[in-house]
Amino acid sequence: MQLLPGFRDFFPDDCARRNYILEMWRAVARRYGFVEYDGPVLEPMALYEKKSGGEIVGQLFDFTDKGARHVAMRPEMTPTLARMVAARERDFKKPLKWFCVPQFFRYEKQQRGRLREFYQLNCDIIGEASSAADAEMIAVLIDMLRGVGLGEKDFVVRLSSRTAWQEFFAQAGGKSEDEYEFFQIVDKAERNPPEKTDAALAKFSLTAQQVLDFMRSKTATAELAPILADLTARGLGGFVEIDYAIVRGLAYYTGVVFEVFDRSKNERALAGGGRYDKLLSLMSDGKVDLPALGFGMGDVVLANLIDDTPAAKAQLDAWLARERAADVYVVIAKEERRAEALGVVQQLREAGHRTDFPLTAAKVGKQFRTAEQLGARLTVLIGDEWPQVKVKTLATREEVLVDAGEVLAFLQRKS
Ligand code: HAM
Repeated sequence: MQLLPGFRDFFPDDCARRNYILEMWRAVARRYGFVEYDGPVLEPMALYEKKSGGEIVGQLFDFTDKGARHVAMRPEMTPTLARMVAARERDFKKPLKWFCVPQFFRYEKQQRGRLREFYQLNCDIIGEASSAADAEMIAVLIDMLRGVGLGEKDFVVRLSSRTAWQEFFAQAGGKSEDEYEFFQIVDKAERNPPEKTDAALAKFSLTAQQVLDFMRSKTATAELAPILADLTARGLGGFVEIDYAIVRGLAYYTGVVFEVFDRSKNERALAGGGRYDKLLSLMSDGKVDLPALGFGMGDVVLANLIDDTPAAKAQLDAWLARERAADVYVVIAKEERRAEALGVVQQLREAGHRTDFPLTAAKVGKQFRTAEQLGARLTVLIGDEWPQVKVKTLATREEVLVDAGEVLAFLQRKS
């Protein structure tokens, strides 16, 4: 049976690589005071039709369940988060700083950096309107990438604002109900030929040139300047550039928006996010009105960039080398001593040592080879010397005879 296109098997090596990224995400999020939450994998289709908008709705894995409900597998977290917070907003002190690491599903064309199943870190702050929250959000995003060994020369946060584009559009006589359509034209203006953009903009009496000129102006608006100042104060200013080409595809964004790209421009976006100050109000029919912002970062592009960046790759490899299946291997040199060996194995495991041993009789040489293959640091040989055992440090080949009852204390001193 073949794997579905865009889906992945995670063999142990792949799982270890995935866990490296997920563990880093969790560690950095916690370092910034974010707490973890999660939601359901399946949601009503209407949640995304109404709240996400844009391309994502056409990419849903949706179906009718046995109860005749039209449901979709989650393609993103933001609508779920907004629903959850709107339901129990009073139970939490603001601002909320929440993160999650869910698996998502999007029926996209499979290509480098884009699959149909992926993991995405989400960090969101709810209930804080000041630009300090935008800066905090971008800082945690930058540190997520620094955490895996990427630096200023490897990636850039492109910072922009839908407010700036709203003002541009209003000055040109555009109406607010047409804004989202206008944003979608702007979103594609760099990729599409100018004639196509001109044709799309004609009904707003705007031209591709006007849009592209504004896009290329690098001056920070009054909304963006304090964010840059905050990040500069943290020593992170070099990671951010103003770039009005970023407007984001999803419908709910309201103000500041940003995306992260690798500097060499070989990859798709690593992350994207921004403010969605109206979404909670929309979700609760006006009952809960809280400003909100956040970002999502996928594992697929990040893994590609790590593999292509020597310093980041070296850090990953060092981490993988420490990821061993067993730390201690109990060698049973005399089968008659298996019962005693099991006692030692159990004792070691209860004390928290990653311990393995041969399930069936095997030659001693083979057992040592297995120990090395598993990445064990130490072997504990149980044989003729019982009730003494031989503890060997595999790297140095140094061997010490220890009383069986003293093995734990001896290992504790060793680690
Ligand atoms: P998004 O731009 O759709 O935003 O996705 C964010 C990131 O998820 C992308 O930059 C990319 O790294 C990853 N990603 C998206 N689609 C795929 C795919 N098909 N395969 C692999 N990776 C993918 C959102 O999802 C927003 N909900 C983020 C957000 C959170 N905004 C506020 N809070």
